[in-house]
Parts: sequence; structure tokens; C-alpha cells
Amino acid sequence: MEQYLRNCWYMAGWAEELGDKGFVREILGRPTYFYRLVSGAAAAILDRCPHRFAPLSMGTRQGDMLVCGYHGLGFGPDGTCLRNPFANRIPAGSTVPTFAVVERDGIVWLWGGARDTADPALIPQFPFVPDAPGWRTLRGYTLMQANYEYGTDNLMDLSHIEFVHKGSFAGQGVIFAGEHSVRQDGDTLHSNWWMPDIAPPSVAQGAFPPEAKVDHWLDMRWNAPASMRLNVGVCPHGAVREAGFEVPQAHILTPASAHETHYFWSTSRPAEGAEPEMDAMLLDLFRQAFDEEDKPLIEAAYANVRANLDAGGDFWAEQPLSLGIDQGGTRARRLLEKLIAQEQAAHG
Ligand code: FES
Ligand SMILES: [Fe+2]
Repeated sequence: MEQYLRNCWYMAGWAEELGDKGFVREILGRPTYFYRLVSGAAAAILDRCPHRFAPLSMGTRQGDMLVCGYHGLGFGPDGTCLRNPFANRIPAGSTVPTFAVVERDGIVWLWGGARDTADPALIPQFPFVPDAPGWRTLRGYTLMQANYEYGTDNLMDLSHIEFVHKGSFAGQGVIFAGEHSVRQDGDTLHSNWWMPDIAPPSVAQGAFPPEAKVDHWLDMRWNAPASMRLNVGVCPHGAVREAGFEVPQAHILTPASAHETHYFWSTSRPAEGAEPEMDAMLLDLFRQAFDEEDKPLIEAAYANVRANLDAGGDFWAEQPLSLGIDQGGTRARRLLEKLIAQEQAAHG
């Protein structure tokens, strides 16, 4: 059975998904209903009535009470059963599990552990995600049929752009001219590519004359369990980074279950020149890269080992080769293992 890190924040969705009706998403193997209370605060509850297991999301609302659409039991935001239409007695064992949620940076975060242990100070920073004056973000989502750590491997090792993304982000050999470094800072990992003195990469098209020489960086930050931020930057060769530009992206993976992963991504840019046609073009490019290029490979690679995992093996038992470039993913896997082991030791 998959062992998850419990005491950390999992991205449940984009804040705008909460809407009027809320949304349902399987997270850590649990169907979870996310909705807004009358106060506007976000709430999360197991989407399963304890009577005959109807999804509570299919019911109705009376103020903050969720009324089951099957036989009418009513539940408050703390999961307690408040109403039984068939008797005055509230049945024993009728409390539905609820979870701590925080809305920050335009993201709904779910605490994987017990509600009263939730620590919002541990939410990783994604301040660039919300639209702001002069600043615009495109957001996307895809569901991958693979364990989330195989997605982390992909994102923490961007050498794959040279091979997988020929049709989109087109590395044009820049990775081979670059230096890769992995650094740990507390429980945060950085997997960075630095590519100095190269022709302008595709991301910088139009920003530099074609004959210019530039320095280019891809800085990936990782926080447990699999919340990553990528800074893609280009500046004139030899100049300070601030003389160029940097595009921040979110790449956040949340396990739906051991074998399925929610992949949330975003890319931001100055609003100036952010015409709708440009947005549509960028969205297409990113969808092509993630849905048509990364996803089939990650899913097929995972399918190649899944039978062994189901039989009780783990990633390391497959004896993966180490090429050096994969250090970021390896370190993330090792750090996550350590954090899970520490957590389990602390909770017995
Ligand atoms: S299934 Fe919810 S009240 Fe019966
Ligand atoms: Fe990729």
C-alpha cells in the first residue's frame, strides 16, 4: 500500500474551481468534496455519506449544512451529523472525516494529516500564480496514469526536453552545453540548469537578435510531496540575471491514488502583449508538451514497472540506472522517503 507523507500540503485544485458548487477530486485515495462555506472559507469533506455511501457532493445545501441527496442526513462543516429526517436521534458513528484546507496564491491546499496539526506556514510559495495588474497566468491540468514520483523524476530532470519536447520546447542542444546542479536547502531541493553563452533559446524568441549570445537558466525548486516551481530565464551573455527576463511556472503533482496523479501547471508573464491569441497559442504549446509529449512517456514507463510494484517491489528494486542528470529526481525520492520514515517513527 502506498505510504504518503501526511503532514504536508497537497494541491487540491485552482481556487476558481471552487465556484458555487465546489468540486470533487480523489486525493490520497479518498474522494474529497471541496466547497465554500457561507463565510467564503474553503472546506473539504470525505465525499461519502456514512449511511449508504452516496457522494455528499450530489446532495443539497442548507447554509453550511450538506444534506445527503439519498436519504437526507445533514452534516456540518466539521463533519458532524446535524440532522436525521427519520428520528430525533443522531446515529452513532455518523461523523464524516473532514480535512484542513487553505486557499493561498490562487490554489486550494489540502493538509494530508489530522486537521488540528495543519500548519499553513509550511505551504510552499507560489505568489506569481494569481493574476495581478501587469501580470497574467495561464493554468492547466492533466490527469496522469502514473505514480506521482514518476512525474517528479520527469520535472526534476529537464534533460528530457532535448528528446521528449522536440515538437514544443525544443532544447536545440542547449542542455548538452549546460551545467546541472542539485542543492538542498533544509527540506527544499533545487535542481538547476545553467546554460551560458548560447544562441537565444526558443523561449526568448523575439527578445534578442538571432545572432546574440545569451545565458539561459532553468531553476527547479521542489518541496514535499511534489510541489515544484520552475523559473525559466534568459539574459544577455555575461549580464546580471535581472538584465534579462524570467518566467515562473508552477508544476504541482498530487497523488489521486498510488497509480494516478493530478498534474497542475501554470505559466506567468507580463500582461503587456498578452493578447488572447497569444494566450491560446501558449496554452496549445503547453498542452502539447505535457499532454502529448510528457504524459504518454511517463505513463508507459510507469506501466513497465507497475506489475512489479503491485507485487510489493519498489522503484529501487527495479535497479534504475543512474546517469547523473537524474540526481534531482533521485534526491527528491530519497528526501521524501526520509520524511515519511521520520513521520511514521514519530507517530508510532
Ligand atoms: S446515503 Fe446518505 S442518507 Fe442515505
Ligand atoms: Fe517535460
